[in-house]
Amino acid sequence: MLFFNQFCNFIPSNKKIMASFSFSSHLPVLGFFILFVLSSFSFQPQTPFNLKASMERGKAIYTAKCMTCHMEMGEGTDGYYPPLAKSDYLMAGKKKSIEVVLYGASGPMKVNGYDYDDKMEAFDLTDEQTSDVLNYVRNSFGNTGAALTPEEVKSARKK
Ligand code: HEC
Repeated sequence: MLFFNQFCNFIPSNKKIMASFSFSSHLPVLGFFILFVLSSFSFQPQTPFNLKASMERGKAIYTAKCMTCHMEMGEGTDGYYPPLAKSDYLMAGKKKSIEVVLYGASGPMKVNGYDYDDKMEAFDLTDEQTSDVLNYVRNSFGNTGAALTPEEVKSARKK
């Protein structure tokens, strides 16, 4: 019998069984740790920009503040208010269009080959509201443009 006990002590698999036993007793702790790591990832503030939600908020701003001049389908009015639909001016660059909304525009302006010379007032909008309304017009009326973030509006503001 003594011989058998000593024999068992020298079987390596015996140690393995002991090792796996203590591992499984720590499994709940490990599980909580994995959950903690996963949840800290999903609560990170840097979530990807939601263009669809931004456009929806932007549509309400457009209807309230821009539609009287640029019209429901962004077609504008001949000779006075330039179109936003398929507008080369609007889609040429983000910075220019941000500036038009924040600071207004006046003086001669060429849009899609036609000359305009009227005045658009400056709009007192937050960075997010400006990005929302521009995301709406840049992705409506036949336009498709990359998402424009509030951070881009912030950096386009005149200091
Ligand atoms: C009172 C009428 C009026 C309103 C309201 C108005 N605009 Fe304008 N918008 C104009 C005029 C006029 C111009 C051209 C200015 C010029 O001739 O220099 C213009 C130009 C623009 C342009 C650049 C030209 C183009 O067609 O791409 C953009 C972009 C624009 N407006 C977006 C907006 C947005 C967004 C709003 C709402 C937040 C808005 N506008 C509200 C009258 C208006």
